[in-house]
Amino acid sequence: MSKYILSLDQGTSSSRAIIFNDEGKQLAVAQKEFTQIYPQSGWVEHDAMEIWSSQIGVATEAVIKARISPQDVACIGITNQRETTIVWNKQTGEPICNAIVWQDRRTASFCDELKAAGKEPLIKEKTGLMVDAYFSATKLKWILDNVEGARAEANAGNLLFGTVDSWLVWKLTAGKVHITDVSNASRTMLFNIHTLSWDDELLSIFDIPESVLPEVKSSSEVYGETAGAIFSAKIPIAGIAGDQQAALFGQLCTQAGMVKNTYGTGCFMLMNTGNKPVMSKNNLVTTVAWKINNEVHYALEGSIFMAGAIVQWLRDGLGIIKTSSEIDDLASACEDNGGVVLVPAFTGLGAPHWNPYAKGTIFGLSRGTKSSHIARAALESIAYQTMDVLKAMEADADFAIKELRVDGGATVNNLLMQYQADVLDTSVIRPKAAELTAIGAAYLAGLAVGVWANIEEIKKQWEVDQVFEPAHTTQVQNNIIQWKKAVQAVNHWTTL
Ligand code: G3P
Repeated sequence: MSKYILSLDQGTSSSRAIIFNDEGKQLAVAQKEFTQIYPQSGWVEHDAMEIWSSQIGVATEAVIKARISPQDVACIGITNQRETTIVWNKQTGEPICNAIVWQDRRTASFCDELKAAGKEPLIKEKTGLMVDAYFSATKLKWILDNVEGARAEANAGNLLFGTVDSWLVWKLTAGKVHITDVSNASRTMLFNIHTLSWDDELLSIFDIPESVLPEVKSSSEVYGETAGAIFSAKIPIAGIAGDQQAALFGQLCTQAGMVKNTYGTGCFMLMNTGNKPVMSKNNLVTTVAWKINNEVHYALEGSIFMAGAIVQWLRDGLGIIKTSSEIDDLASACEDNGGVVLVPAFTGLGAPHWNPYAKGTIFGLSRGTKSSHIARAALESIAYQTMDVLKAMEADADFAIKELRVDGGATVNNLLMQYQADVLDTSVIRPKAAELTAIGAAYLAGLAVGVWANIEEIKKQWEVDQVFEPAHTTQVQNNIIQWKKAVQAVNHWTTL
């Protein structure tokens, strides 16, 4: 049997495809950035066709780069930006509008109405989520209510809804299979995480006809195979997980109490809580991690909306760096932040603050402020946001987290990783493998088709690159105090 796995990692900023072998080694990677569409303040959209074309393009490129043929690919695993909402016509296969991205805040006022109507406790109890524009339900409702003719077409059974995983599977199978997995379903705010099914009461609150919804499957099984016209081979699609759950799996955080943080466009910290959902008392969300062979794992999650995206903004918005990797040198050009604190609430504040109206703010500017101080404050803000989430997680779990496994693009930045350990007062562990999200999806797919017999077999593949031990100095403690004051001020400003 072939031992190559093709992992499709459809992220917020780019589509990536990676070929792994059965030792978990990466043989080839291809990546393509795609267009971010900002039609008005607070709105973020993607062209679902560009998501598809970029994804299939990099998949083909990765197979070529690995010098294998499609026939050599044992299976495909899919992992994806979650919550992003796509609606397409079942007959034509055309999306009826741009995808509404998870960062989009257009439905924040509807979320306020739901809260005012006292719906939050019920929604939270069923879905594990707080009522927020982040999740898919209000985005889907917005599309059905605002795109001309959409509601009637949906009621006539002509429209399909999916998160990005559903869309890719539907396209890969040439419209034969309309499914999602439990981890993606748990991010829609329409899915009951206790019964593991779409919830009639939620569908009625959000006015969503059941006919648009995909069938919900486990995270590791054969869902279908690629249509011949897409690849020259019929390859089983055998694993799906939302990108953060896939990273939790890729980090082999397979036991209760294990925690990882992924530094991507945003930052996402997840703790495996085992077979039972733990309801947060500290503004984290409860989510399905994965379902494998009828065994469900749940996770507590803290989602931070801006991490790598801050670096993108320094590059594209402010223009103080030309490439993202320049941030390291610029931030290291000064000894400290020079009193500058940046609260990166560009798309509101996520966990544990949940303020959709917060705006990005820079405090502490003086005549001596240089671009390097701003770069350093930007990096530090990633570490502080992670700290806020970790503290909430410790309070929910009722124990101190001793180590944090990290992955994602920004973890190559040693300055950030050391500062992260200092701020958390916890060891930060960077594994050797860089692509934990993609490998998580590859593992899920490979388990389904027998590339690996069980999780124990995979665990041997996880190796440490570097451990960052904390130095929780007085300077660090003072910086944390400044950060807390700055967040308070940002929250206060939105109430004025
Ligand atoms: O919940 C949103 C998340 O899935 C996006 O992940 O890696 O595209 O920042 P990423």
